[in-house]
Amino acid sequence: MAFTHPSSSVRRRPAARLRAFGGCGALAALALTASGCSVKGASDVNLIAGKQAFVAKCGSCHTLARASTKGTVGPNLDEAFAASLAEGLVPGSARSAIRGTVEGQIRVPNPEGAMPKDLATGATLRDIAAYVAQVADAPGQDSGLLASAVEAPGAGKPVVEQSGKLQIPASPTGQLAYVSSKATAKPGPATIEMPNTSGVSHNIAIEPGAGGASGSGPILGASTFTTKSTATISVTLKPGTYTFFCQAPGHRAAGMFGTLVVK
Ligand code: HEC
Repeated sequence: MAFTHPSSSVRRRPAARLRAFGGCGALAALALTASGCSVKGASDVNLIAGKQAFVAKCGSCHTLARASTKGTVGPNLDEAFAASLAEGLVPGSARSAIRGTVEGQIRVPNPEGAMPKDLATGATLRDIAAYVAQVADAPGQDSGLLASAVEAPGAGKPVVEQSGKLQIPASPTGQLAYVSSKATAKPGPATIEMPNTSGVSHNIAIEPGAGGASGSGPILGASTFTTKSTATISVTLKPGTYTFFCQAPGHRAAGMFGTLVVK
């Protein structure tokens, strides 16, 4: 997949960064009224909504530590902006510059890159950019309301089989995770349903063993890929431990798996 190497991209495309900064970021940085400009003062943005929208619309392709996203299709955004933060691209204003760059990237993604157009507009676009600018390459974790804006991946209640049916939903937030990373079932034939209401395409596959993020056992069953609907597989389970996981590239490695105990 052709994409800009994270650590070099900022310097490889300086025109885009500076244009974005000079246009709107600079006004925001100086806290002037930016009428007719898409970037308003920081008080106008909703960072909680920005985090939620980032996870839903961006996290499946981008790693951003504070958002707990682990996508690998596009550049790691902590790394992408680490260099310009360290260099202090525009002294004291690197985070405003990042905000402008993220806005610009969402508005006009590289036509040769794999980043889709029109992922977000208006307030959502501004909220996402403000959140990324605030947390990119920032040490520590989100705190307060930002910490609880998005549930921890896979932390839902363990799934329990009922009358031969296991329902393991993909995370509705767009995280690369199922709602729960734990399930139990009795031996015998079972139907595993994976409802996916998120906009990110997932499937569910199952293999024997506790392979975690990188098992390579024979696959017992694998569903079709789906978004905004439910995928199903039918398997016959013997007592033991199994791993359920998503086969989309990078999703299992990012944490989209769980353990099914059959007894
Ligand atoms: C389908 C995968 C995908 C999604 C979804 C996606 N991106 Fe990207 N993104 C990419 C790829 C691939 C690149 C590198 C190629 C390019 O520059 O277009 C990229 C590049 C970027 C860059 C430039 C990084 C650099 O090093 O210059 C930023 C910033 C960015 N994306 C932010 C976002 C934000 C914010 C969202 C959500 C609104 C998002 N992306 C959604 C795939 C994605």
